[in-house]
Amino acid sequence: MRSFFFIVIFCAVTIDAWSDGKQRRFKNDFKFGVSTAAYQVEGAWDIDGKGESIWDRYLHNHPELVTDGRNGDVASDSYHNYKRDVELLRELGVDFYRFSISWPRVLPSGFPHDQNEHGFQYYDNLIDELLHYNITPMITLYHFDLPQKLQDLGGWVNPLSIDWFVDYARVVFNKYAHKVPYWITINQPNAICVFGYGDTILAPAINAKGVSEYECTKNILLAHAKVYRLYEKEFKKKFKGSVGISMSINWSDPLNNKTENVQAVEKYREFDIGLYLDPIWSKNGDFPSIVKKTIEKKSKQQGFYRSRLPTLSHEEIKLLKGSADFLGINHYTTFLIKPSTKNIHSPSYADDMGVEIVFGDQWEQSASYWLRSAPYGLYKMCIFLNLRYDYPTMFITENGWSTKTGLWDKSRAETMRRYLNALLLAIEDGTEVKGYTVWSLIDNIEWNAGSSERFGLYEVDFESEEKTRTARLSAHVYKRIIQKRIIEENWEPKNLKISKPKRVDL
Ligand code: BGC
Repeated sequence: MRSFFFIVIFCAVTIDAWSDGKQRRFKNDFKFGVSTAAYQVEGAWDIDGKGESIWDRYLHNHPELVTDGRNGDVASDSYHNYKRDVELLRELGVDFYRFSISWPRVLPSGFPHDQNEHGFQYYDNLIDELLHYNITPMITLYHFDLPQKLQDLGGWVNPLSIDWFVDYARVVFNKYAHKVPYWITINQPNAICVFGYGDTILAPAINAKGVSEYECTKNILLAHAKVYRLYEKEFKKKFKGSVGISMSINWSDPLNNKTENVQAVEKYREFDIGLYLDPIWSKNGDFPSIVKKTIEKKSKQQGFYRSRLPTLSHEEIKLLKGSADFLGINHYTTFLIKPSTKNIHSPSYADDMGVEIVFGDQWEQSASYWLRSAPYGLYKMCIFLNLRYDYPTMFITENGWSTKTGLWDKSRAETMRRYLNALLLAIEDGTEVKGYTVWSLIDNIEWNAGSSERFGLYEVDFESEEKTRTARLSAHVYKRIIQKRIIEENWEPKNLKISKPKRVDL
């Protein structure tokens, strides 16, 4: 009965998820927040005893890779501006703030025998400031910035990384478990492993294709699960917090209804979603069988002695299954998929999938080449996850839009409204979403894109000494949504001192 209901709604809303005219409301216990990450906002890269991270090393060694040459050395300087950041959070009226702890700031060598009290002082101050104003901290333990010293030992492809991460997490839990109710172990394992180990898109840019992506995936998922079990055993009873993991889940549709495209997208979802979520959320645990079979067959053809995808033992499957109180979802866009026609490097994750991503050119384009507005994809993704994983508890831990500089960011405000409308529909259809998080509170260092792509509700003047923060139109719109708990289509703040440009500034 339930699935029939879904099919009907599903068809109706894919056409226009936000304009059926009905006013929907976010329930009172639904939480609104914003998100940042240490490397992208903190700056102070070598101040007060902080150790070097893989991003410090990568962008110092390769300044030519950053679009506008701006790296995380100073960034938005949140290290010195945290009070101002909390002022912005108060202005917005958010319930929670998702930020990450820089592992090398608190444990410069990566190991717990060497703790940096100055580093901890920064997070003590930030957390206390948040709590003082009733804003709940949500901490990400790992958002891409591994201590370089641990990378020198192999990083996430070294199975010892599992213990390194547990040791680090224990130190942080001991410090903050009594103050912090929401924990995210790792931000986007799939991006870390595929782009950082199987490619050069993210640090550490190892580019050992076809093998390291999967070694990294296994280790990082086990590291997550062990940290979940650590909290469960030693902290949960006393502090009653929740521990989850944030996955990058964009929606994918076939380029068109041709059978080959439909089959391609099904395979893509197994690699893109199933590989990372099945071990934790599926009934049987383990990696998806299609992924296992595909990689095993290809490995054999390529002359490998065994499959390039490592196996999970019975104990590991048990450890992983159910190791999350919530699924954090970083959702931005929808991709269109068709079978690959290009010559792809073999072996590689891309070659194993054998598909090609096409960017839907009918959708509005942001300032990032990969990001277009397709809010119906958020709805479809929620329904897909509900059916595949039996209504998991979710948090949207990132959703956002990039522009160039400028305060009149109508495209961001509009996109946010449309995605939130799609989310309201998904909730109405049974999705268990506890909260929504905008990426990002302020402009920051968008990895290799430097400050050329702006994601902030607040603009940062990177040229100014103080890294001045100024509210964009979207900050006012988000504040209003949080206040009213409804989405008003054409609402604009009165007496806004932002001059509207003649041309909408993307
Ligand atoms: C990452 C952020 C990044 C954002 C926009 C997310 O995948 O977690 O660090 O800035 O996407 O690209």
